[in-house]
Amino acid sequence: MTADWWGLAGRRVLVAGAGGLGRAVIDALADLGCSCAALDRSPDVLGEVATAHPDIPTRRVDLTDREATRAAVDEMADRMGGLDVAVHAVGVNDRRPILSVTADGWRHLLSVNLDSAFHFAQATGAIMTARGEGRLILFSSVAGTLAHRDHGAYAASKGALNQFARVMAHEWASAGVTVNTIAPGYTPTGLTLRHLAKPGVEDKLTGLVPTGRLGQVEDVQGIVALLASPRSAYITGQVIHVDGGRTLV
Ligand SMILES: NC(=O)c1ccc[n+]([C@@H]2O[C@H](COP(=O)([O-])OP(=O)(O)OC[C@H]3O[C@@H](n4cnc5c(N)ncnc54)[C@H](O)[C@@H]3O)[C@@H](O)[C@H]2O)c1
Repeated sequence: MTADWWGLAGRRVLVAGAGGLGRAVIDALADLGCSCAALDRSPDVLGEVATAHPDIPTRRVDLTDREATRAAVDEMADRMGGLDVAVHAVGVNDRRPILSVTADGWRHLLSVNLDSAFHFAQATGAIMTARGEGRLILFSSVAGTLAHRDHGAYAASKGALNQFARVMAHEWASAGVTVNTIAPGYTPTGLTLRHLAKPGVEDKLTGLVPTGRLGQVEDVQGIVALLASPRSAYITGQVIHVDGGRTLV
């Protein structure tokens, strides 16, 4: 087997959302020889990426802004000399019963979780389909399948994301672009830390996972590397759970 059997060396990867899971993706793919770039709305998050990976270009953008997203994607693809892999790891949650969700709260969550995926997918998909090869990877959630209480808007956004990805996979298959979603279970990151710190929550959630532990950000690195590889050209339209078996029970 050659050292780069997966064909990842030199792959040009744009990661949108460079916080917890997105950052783990950048760390792994950079380690495997990919040429990465990062987008995020947070200067602090981008600063941490730049400190760990001084060679990786970063750019601040709010992905709910359609025109700004297109401009940022085009600029980063130009800087990398093209685009082979696009990863969307942007999301927010607002845990509350459906009867307490305001119209503004609903709109905000759908905008960050779903509109941003639409804008990012269109901008990156235009480049990759024109080139005739590419990978789009989007972070969904076990909440896209399960019916957790207090997750009405979040679950709606992730269920919609799964279906959006499946249709893109169908439309872009003939152009050599695969589209898959990764659906993690609870993993400590900026998204979940405050909730997990509430009394009893971590133990309760851990008890729901057959493997007996919550996820770690490193748990998504292997599947992203596989999906980013030219070797995964025949895997498309899938929702891949990385959840320690959470969706089995
Ligand atoms: N952590 C978990 O337990 C978990 C579980 C299932 C699914 N997910 C999903 O994985 C993805 C990544 O989540 P995470 O855990 O890394 O969260 P995180 O909060 O650590 O990282 C998300 C990043 O997205 C950025 N972001 C948010 N809104 C943005 C916007 N409008 N424009 C640009 N950047 C924006 C944030 O600044 C942050 O760096 C999300 O889609 C999330 O729903 C996470």
